[in-house]
Amino acid sequence: MTTRILFVCLGNICRSPAAEGIARALLPGLEIDSAGTSDWHVGEPPYGAMQAAARARGIDLGGLHARQFQPGDFHRFDLILAMDADNLDEIEALRPTGSDTPVRLFTDYAPETGADHVPDPYYTRDFDAALDLIEAAAKGLKAALDPAG
Ligand code: 4NP
Repeated sequence: MTTRILFVCLGNICRSPAAEGIARALLPGLEIDSAGTSDWHVGEPPYGAMQAAARARGIDLGGLHARQFQPGDFHRFDLILAMDADNLDEIEALRPTGSDTPVRLFTDYAPETGADHVPDPYYTRDFDAALDLIEAAAKGLKAALDPAG
């Protein structure tokens, strides 16, 4: 059973906290968390512009704080979802011997979008485009976890 899901991006202040907030709303009852491959923003709340864009869709990211991905996360989660291929490579480089926890691109769950990563809005400044993609992938994830629902 997949009940513990970790979303990972680079800073843990834009894409993965947004994915965490959206997944919490869409998948109540599951254990959802997020982390960054870097330690650049550890302890910080989600980026203000991302918080505002999420709030406009009814998603409150206010209580979240950035943390860095750690090898122990392979044992604490059933599924690790990376926002882009760089994140995925950084995560895989930390895989403990013997762990078979799946690490996938989050966009794998939104094939209809044609996207192979969630573009980083910290650079693109398009927070709504990131949220659109994250919402599509979160819906695909929900359908994959609960095909009958
Ligand atoms: P995120 O975006 O990986 O979606 O949280 C970023 C946030 C900050 C930086 C890079 C990406 N930064 O360079 O500080």
